[in-house]
Amino acid sequence: MSQNPIAEPRPIIIDTDPGQDDAIAILAALAAPELEVLGITAVAGNVPLELTARNARILVELADRPEVPVFAGCDRPLRRDLVTAEHVHGKTGIDGADLADPVVELQPQHAVEWMAETLLAAGEREITICPVGPMTNVATVLETAPEAASRIREIVCMGGGFFGGGNTTPAAEFNVFVDPDAAQIVLHCGAPVTMLPLDATHKALMTDHWINRVRALGTRTGVAAAGMLDFYERFDVDKYGTTGGPLHDPNVIAYLLRPHLYSGRHCNVEVETSSPLTAGMTVVDWWNVTDRPPNCHYITDVDSDGFYDLLLDLLARLP
Ligand code: RIB
Ligand code: CA
Repeated sequence: MSQNPIAEPRPIIIDTDPGQDDAIAILAALAAPELEVLGITAVAGNVPLELTARNARILVELADRPEVPVFAGCDRPLRRDLVTAEHVHGKTGIDGADLADPVVELQPQHAVEWMAETLLAAGEREITICPVGPMTNVATVLETAPEAASRIREIVCMGGGFFGGGNTTPAAEFNVFVDPDAAQIVLHCGAPVTMLPLDATHKALMTDHWINRVRALGTRTGVAAAGMLDFYERFDVDKYGTTGGPLHDPNVIAYLLRPHLYSGRHCNVEVETSSPLTAGMTVVDWWNVTDRPPNCHYITDVDSDGFYDLLLDLLARLP
């Protein structure tokens, strides 16, 4: 993978609910010299907060990056009860890999406080925020410190779905379904938002051949990642009847590193926050039929081979 020796690494914060796909996104980001992971903020989502924070600590240790601070954030959505997804990710959230409890400590500061402080100490449009779970932490920062939005270079999130429907209800994708109010706040915060929705992630399905190439790396990271992915993909293969499952969250990292692998459109995206039938739906004005201003770079296509080649390259860099 070519690396520009001159460019400064891009500072990012990963906001996450590990989750096996989150795990691959975190490992990929930690392996990429073009990125500086300032910190990882855990949020309740796939599993409760205590486990997402534990899993994030396990992952920085797996990548041999114990110096990357992990913070625990919000343990429930802004205005709703928490919905989790153990049926997808297993009881721990990262079932499939036999990983020891973490030694590295959780940071004592609340993730929201740390994220707000970090943004307010940064320059204009300096830091990229990468939400790959429910956007509760990020929305809380934006609500409590609105001026922080000007320090955000871009919010690149995994969430939403429109043309292909939802994966949690017919209308809603999980991250936005869990906290639709948070997603709507993020979409209207004024910082540039890029959304990697199911309409893109479902066009890049894992194959057993690729998972076996990850396992064949023979490293502790490769073996652990392959174990997690074996466990994780079974749900989507059964659900969609496909030969492989989508690997949602790492698309955020791949987009940062290789934006040419992706295409989409700058358009208006709004989130349904009240209807019991469609709560969490991302309503995408793809044909600009309303006068609602564009507020999102909505991604709909991905070069799947390029995506998986990049991920394997990055995972191969880890111990
Ligand atoms: O809908 C997919 C998203 O929900 C991914 O972020 C996955 O980790 C779950 O959080
Ligand atoms: Ca996630």
